[in-house]
Amino acid sequence: MNYQTLLFSVENRVGIVTVNRPDKLNALNAVAKDELRMLFTALRSDPLVDAVVITGAGEKAFVAGTDIRELTALDAASGVEFASRGQAVFDLIEQLDKPVIAAVNGYALGGGCELALACHLRLASEKARFGQPEVSLGIIPGYGGTQRLARLIGEGRALEMILTGVQVDAAEALRIGLVNKVFPPAELMVRALATAQVIVSMGQVAVRAALKAVHAAGLPLPEGLGIEAEQFGRCCASDDFHEGTRAFLEKRKPAFRNR
Ligand code: COA
Repeated sequence: MNYQTLLFSVENRVGIVTVNRPDKLNALNAVAKDELRMLFTALRSDPLVDAVVITGAGEKAFVAGTDIRELTALDAASGVEFASRGQAVFDLIEQLDKPVIAAVNGYALGGGCELALACHLRLASEKARFGQPEVSLGIIPGYGGTQRLARLIGEGRALEMILTGVQVDAAEALRIGLVNKVFPPAELMVRALATAQVIVSMGQVAVRAALKAVHAAGLPLPEGLGIEAEQFGRCCASDDFHEGTRAFLEKRKPAFRNR
């Protein structure tokens, strides 16, 4: 499929998504959000893709937010709809049962920070900058930022970012747990793809079960533990489990068939 605002390719079972509006610092306009929705819907059943890396085109930005030009006409009712539609796109990314890695190559502001938050892993270039500057525009984060940021780095730090709009550099993002790792800019994509390759070399039944179980971490503990046990059982019924354990005992590499 051809997209106006996204580039998409597949390399060794890893889908590479690039938000491609570099002249607008990859700000997400309505078309970009719609195309992300279509692409991530298609990825759910794409047999050629077992992990995804998402990044921004150009040197400067991952995504510099939602497109501010498209905000100006919003009122109370259309504002709720606007936020809900954006949230649904980012939910689709978070709920994808294949790992999604954000390769944050520059500004990740507003909806860009929220896009990174909806991904399962966040790898950043030393040039990355994170922020939720919405209050400076008279709004708040509306694509999950108030929820996912607080869950990831704690309410106090999330409120500091959201109430002041302060930008956090890559080193600080690493320190506060907003990103998993930081790399020199030239290494970022190589390292993101290498991380994706490690994941796709594992048994995919287990990878998907792990995503489901860890997602349940926000639930009350007994419920989360129930989901963990259920997913553990699902793994035990897989060919991958028999192959993985047998390969260990036979001192060879497993040949997973992902079923
Ligand atoms: N929405 C729409 N357009 C945006 C944008 C956004 N979120 N972020 C950047 N752009 C556009 C600029 O309007 C400019 O377009 P133009 O060349 O047609 O004027 C282009 O991208 C380059 O941005 P510019 O501001 O000139 O780059 P800079 O290096 O001086 O500043 C930023 C970079 C990221 C600090 C600045 O662009 C910025 O603050 N962007 C908005 C961030 C934001 O508030 N995001 C949350 C939105 S809810």
